[in-house]
Amino acid sequence: MLELKHVKKYYSIKQNAFKFFSPSVKIKKVIDDVSFELGQGEVLVLAGESGSGKTTLAKLIIGYITPDAGDIVFLGQNVNNSKKNKSFYSSIQMIHQDPYSSINPYLKIKDIVMEPLKIHNGNLSYAEKEKKVRIALSRTKLEPVEEFLEKYPNMLSGGQRQRVSIARAIVSIPRLIIADEPVSMLDVSIRAEILSLLNELRNSLNISIIYITHDLATSRFIGDKIGIMFAGNLVEFGNIDEVLLNPLHPYTWMLLDAVNFSSSGSNVYYKTPEQTNSFNIPSAGCKFYNSCKLSSNECTSDPQKYEISKGHFVSCFNYKKHDIDDN
Ligand SMILES: Nc1ncnc2c1ncn2[C@@H]1O[C@H](COP(=O)(O)OP(=O)(O)OP(=O)(O)O)[C@@H](O)[C@H]1O
Ligand code: SF4
Ligand SMILES: [Mg+2]
Repeated sequence: MLELKHVKKYYSIKQNAFKFFSPSVKIKKVIDDVSFELGQGEVLVLAGESGSGKTTLAKLIIGYITPDAGDIVFLGQNVNNSKKNKSFYSSIQMIHQDPYSSINPYLKIKDIVMEPLKIHNGNLSYAEKEKKVRIALSRTKLEPVEEFLEKYPNMLSGGQRQRVSIARAIVSIPRLIIADEPVSMLDVSIRAEILSLLNELRNSLNISIIYITHDLATSRFIGDKIGIMFAGNLVEFGNIDEVLLNPLHPYTWMLLDAVNFSSSGSNVYYKTPEQTNSFNIPSAGCKFYNSCKLSSNECTSDPQKYEISKGHFVSCFNYKKHDIDDN
């Protein structure tokens, strides 16, 4: 359903802006050669530290920004082809992190949820649109529906507002939803409810979801696959149970140890911040080099992508060394 092939997005950043005669321009590889596939009804968790490129990848998939190289093919169409058919636009919807800024405070819930239908389904009568809005509110458990239709966002809790965002995203029954940290700004007590709701909707409507999160601990609850991002690279990708229970990239170990997921104490593979001399990302070769304890000479060139078992990929020359003895 979705395929990314060698997608790259670079930004040029001006340095030494005060040096009039010699400003230098540095190229920042925000997304650097990312490829993966996602099937209909599958949930892909994208995880990685702040600045690793998760939101940029989401913007590329939804077509807000264009890649500098590579292809993004969704339902058989290139996302960057200007002649996409109309249904493309209603087939991907986004849920943002902040339920306060992502919905218009001056509109009634009915009108907020109806927005995608007004844009993409102009042929429907008002009554038909309202019927779809009622179904979306009911599916997201904003009940009694009659009451919620007439309310304004300031009358709702954070969790209810995020349900409104979800209702708006599903009202046109899209094929793919990209949820960018949809629960991180919500109270811990209601995060599980929202995740359960997304899971239910994927099962009942067969919608694929790209779920962006920092929270690896809850990601297994919803994900089928996981992609681990580091500095614009997808360093590990595969079935979520396989990757989390049998991690191969030193950075995946580092993320897992941060949430005490693994019991083995695996910092034999990576350097802790105290042990790292340089936080700089090398401009060539493996970007994790300065934080890695397994590095070897070949790591100064770009790591290859190895398929370890069906669909489990890792970009690391020394992934086999993960069996090394801790003692
Ligand atoms: N328009 C832009 N121009 C220059 N740099 C950009 C631009 N957009 C994003 N970046 C840079 O790209 C990198 C990745 O940003 P992105 O927002 O995709 O990260 P993220 O993984 O979503 O982080 P977070 O977890 O904090 O949301 C960051 O270093 C950011 O500063
Ligand atoms: S490629 Fe080399 S430097 Fe990069 S993570 Fe693997 S061992 Fe470490
Ligand atoms: Mg982000």
